[in-house]
Amino acid sequence: MSRQNKELMHKHLFDGTAWNVYNPNLLNLSVGAPGPDLLEPCCDIFQQATAHCLEHEKKSNNSLIFQYGPTSGTYEIRKEVAKFFSEMYTNSVNCEDLIMTTGATQGLHFVLSTLIDFSGYIFVDEYTYMIALDSMRHFTSLKIVPLKLNDDGVDLDDLDEKVRGRHFKSKNKEFWAIYYTIPTYHNPTGILFSPAVCHGIVQLARKYDFLVLCDDVYNILHYGEKPSIDRLISCDARTDADFVGNVISNGSFSKLIGPGVRLGWLEVPPRVKPLLDSSGIIQSGGGFNNYTAGIVASLFELQLAQSHIARLHEAYKERMLATIEILKSELPKSCHFVPPSGGFFIWIRLPDQLKALDFMEYCMERERITFIGGSRFAVEEGKGQQFFRITIGFYNKEKLVDGVKRLCLTLTDYIKTVDMNNC
Ligand SMILES: Cc1ncc(COP(=O)(O)O)c(C=O)c1O
Repeated sequence: MSRQNKELMHKHLFDGTAWNVYNPNLLNLSVGAPGPDLLEPCCDIFQQATAHCLEHEKKSNNSLIFQYGPTSGTYEIRKEVAKFFSEMYTNSVNCEDLIMTTGATQGLHFVLSTLIDFSGYIFVDEYTYMIALDSMRHFTSLKIVPLKLNDDGVDLDDLDEKVRGRHFKSKNKEFWAIYYTIPTYHNPTGILFSPAVCHGIVQLARKYDFLVLCDDVYNILHYGEKPSIDRLISCDARTDADFVGNVISNGSFSKLIGPGVRLGWLEVPPRVKPLLDSSGIIQSGGGFNNYTAGIVASLFELQLAQSHIARLHEAYKERMLATIEILKSELPKSCHFVPPSGGFFIWIRLPDQLKALDFMEYCMERERITFIGGSRFAVEEGKGQQFFRITIGFYNKEKLVDGVKRLCLTLTDYIKTVDMNNC
């Protein structure tokens, strides 16, 4: 091994490989992020918000934005988040339940490290956000248990059985186990958990007292009617006689403003808030991302965030609906997908005998189009090989539509080629 690290001068996360999403000769349908046309207004709106915020700091706030922040984040940012999402969601968000984070990735890591017994369990959907799985695997003593996923959400019988057989009383942490999921516009499958499944999860969480952490990063990105349950935490109602507090909503501005902003929030029940607030991580560093949170609070105060989010929502909707149209008419009939009603992802199933990674190689060679094979999202070795995931967020509609058409044509050719070779 070299003694010297090489400086790679990368400019973004998807840089430096044959898959560079900014390479104009490639269509990379694996990236779940807003593209350059959507991020372009950020320089202007952040300039205005920064000037607004720093003026206030200079004049009347003792430059406190540069100080260690209060553990949950300032009142100003939590108030803006609570106000905006109370308007977006069916149920209101309370300012005092929020803890600001540097995004959902950190939110999950923070919760795992502080609230879960290290000899316990992480339950996950059989297909789930692949990089969350990578983060979980850092906690080598926690056992990851996959759960069957149906078209309307997790299989409640499977959850019940797997939780029942492992349940124990933790001596040193608040929870013996966590169920990590993405109930609203799931990554990678695009599904929306039904109300019955959402309520069923909460009932089981109360019965066995495990924590449910929902990555709620796509929830307001609905492309038709707003879903009746738009975040699972609302099913864990505080007015219920058997309420204890078993659900955390893990939110993020990555898909709504821009991932580089690195700002998110945890919405937590009262039993959990003091545990997080008093953790060494937050006490040592103070509120996560205090400076950026201040700028984003100004972005909301000036109404710039609201219009930016509305613009992104509209663009994603247009892209998703156009992609669904093409897939409905041009995806080979032997393939299958459930059209998502929101979010970023479409999960496509190939005919049984085919493997997505083989098709991906073929597609890359022929059309320079790439995506992610289903096995990357599975805990179990060998699972998900006939699935692949495409995303709608990055490219503008024209480029996306052209690419998805070419993808469908290439898939039709590929299926014919495989059929002929098998004759
Ligand atoms: C389900 C899910 N959680 C978390 C993230 C990352 O969120 P953040 O940028 O807020 O860390 C993503 C991004 O693709 C995601 O799909």
